[in-house]
Amino acid sequence: MTHTFWLAARRLRSELVARRQDALRGISTAQEVADQELGFADPQNHAYVATDYDVFLAAMQRIKVRPGVDVFVDFGSGKGRAVLLAAERPFRKVIGVEFSPQLHEVAQRNLRAARNLKCTDVELVLADASQWKIPDDATVLFFFNPFEGSVLAKVFENIRRSLAEAPRQISIIYVRADKFFEKQILWQHWLVRTNELPCSDGKVAIYRSKRA
Ligand SMILES: C[S@@+](CC[C@H](N)C(=O)[O-])C[C@H]1O[C@@H](n2cnc3c(N)ncnc32)[C@H](O)[C@@H]1O
Repeated sequence: MTHTFWLAARRLRSELVARRQDALRGISTAQEVADQELGFADPQNHAYVATDYDVFLAAMQRIKVRPGVDVFVDFGSGKGRAVLLAAERPFRKVIGVEFSPQLHEVAQRNLRAARNLKCTDVELVLADASQWKIPDDATVLFFFNPFEGSVLAKVFENIRRSLAEAPRQISIIYVRADKFFEKQILWQHWLVRTNELPCSDGKVAIYRSKRA
């Protein structure tokens, strides 16, 4: 009972924060979009829930952004909240990859409306992340539990291939890493976990690639 009460109170607080933060930026990212509405044929692709503002900011405090060097990618970028928050930082480029045309369109609208972006090179790509070629200069990779199973495995295979072709150090921020990522991906061989922080119902984990 008490646990349920605190959970509901926390959700309500995060909803209020989200609406206020969205309004400050002139964007709309808060409303969740369920599986049925997105109509993905493969249930390994998850529905839309935005990363909590607080969680994103706390995770970013653990990453040192190299101004004009680092390139941020959100895999499963939805309505663009993480993309736009990243673009408030001095990334050289920010990319969002989203599978749903409906969400991609909302993200494009949000990008046009967003205020106070530091990074002016923001690209929104409509694609299945598992079929998308990871750019050679992508260095900060962000995930909020977007997919599982073979889709997740393919994306991580693509990341490893990208690192082999263009050796560099990357950071991965994974929101709800406990849900599928740490169970399904043999990340231990090439990633070191550098940080962990709590988020609603689970954790955010931050990893760094081992030097090639
Ligand atoms: C939990 S939401 C995260 C949204 C956003 N990253 C954020 O943090 O606010 C997961 C997103 O992944 C998208 N997605 C699911 N499967 C995908 C795929 N194969 N390729 C690209 N995007 C996908 C969903 O449509 C949804 O927008």
